[in-house]
Amino acid sequence: MGVLVFSNQKGGVGKSTLSVLFSRWLADRHGARVCVIDLDTQCNCSRSLGRFACRVPASALFATPALRWAPVVASSLTLLEGSKQLADLELARPETVIPVFRSQVAALDRVFDWVVIDTPPALGLRMSAALIAADSVVCPVELEEYSIVGVTDMLKTIFGVQRRYNPRLRLAGMVANRFNPHSLRQRAALQELVLNYSEFVLPAKISTRSAIPEGIAAGVPVWQLAKTSARQASAEVLEVFELLKLRIEDARSAGSVVQATAGLAKESTQ
Ligand SMILES: Nc1ncnc2c1ncn2[C@@H]1O[C@H](COP(=O)(O)OP(=O)(O)OP(=O)(O)O)[C@@H](O)[C@H]1O
Ligand SMILES: [Mg+2]
Repeated sequence: MGVLVFSNQKGGVGKSTLSVLFSRWLADRHGARVCVIDLDTQCNCSRSLGRFACRVPASALFATPALRWAPVVASSLTLLEGSKQLADLELARPETVIPVFRSQVAALDRVFDWVVIDTPPALGLRMSAALIAADSVVCPVELEEYSIVGVTDMLKTIFGVQRRYNPRLRLAGMVANRFNPHSLRQRAALQELVLNYSEFVLPAKISTRSAIPEGIAAGVPVWQLAKTSARQASAEVLEVFELLKLRIEDARSAGSVVQATAGLAKESTQ
């Protein structure tokens, strides 16, 4: 169902965790063939999905114009690992490397059902490249002071990319993660977020749940952990994922209706 980016320039909001879990969910529960691209030098996503790594590192997507993908699509999940070399890209010429990345991702999109991209916590070249290559973007947000302030910058970046480079990009949703329902401050922040961006805030949240990092550390998604504490965590995560998938699919079908209508209009004027 296209190319999905988890993005927020704020660190520690759950981009890697949700990239890993969403990809596992698509592969395990929906039988989808998923390609995960780790664009972060911290390589958190790559550590969690290491056993699915293929030989091609994520950095190659910016350098090699025509990689051949058919042989790597053996398993349901394929990881293109992050590496320290990705940092060098921030000094590269965007007009040279971004078109290469975009066409590589488009090639992956033709081979896999989903391409999921985890981005670094910075508004740099790699985040721009990911947004330019994507159909949908998800912003995990934390309901703390600095994160909320950063949301506006993130939205400006997303809609700036949409306007200038990638009109098909859709914001699938902002996901409140590491939510603490007992915190008055966080509840007030959530209200403010909904007030300002009602159409984008997902009507489901993920609380701070220790089962989530425990599962990640053990290499299993939270819904496979045999612990009572994992049950509530899974329920929250799965509700968010169902909503996200629906919103992404709806946006895609609305997009194809618009494209088909535009095509018909064009034909009728010819
Ligand atoms: N809902 C949650 N409950 C508890 N811990 C969580 C939750 N979501 C994420 N975490 C933990 O919070 C930390 C930060 O999450 P993660 O690495 O996914 O964020 P990130 O946005 O990718 O960070 P960075 O910007 O540094 O790449 C990790 O230790 C992760 O295990
Ligand atoms: Mg991360």
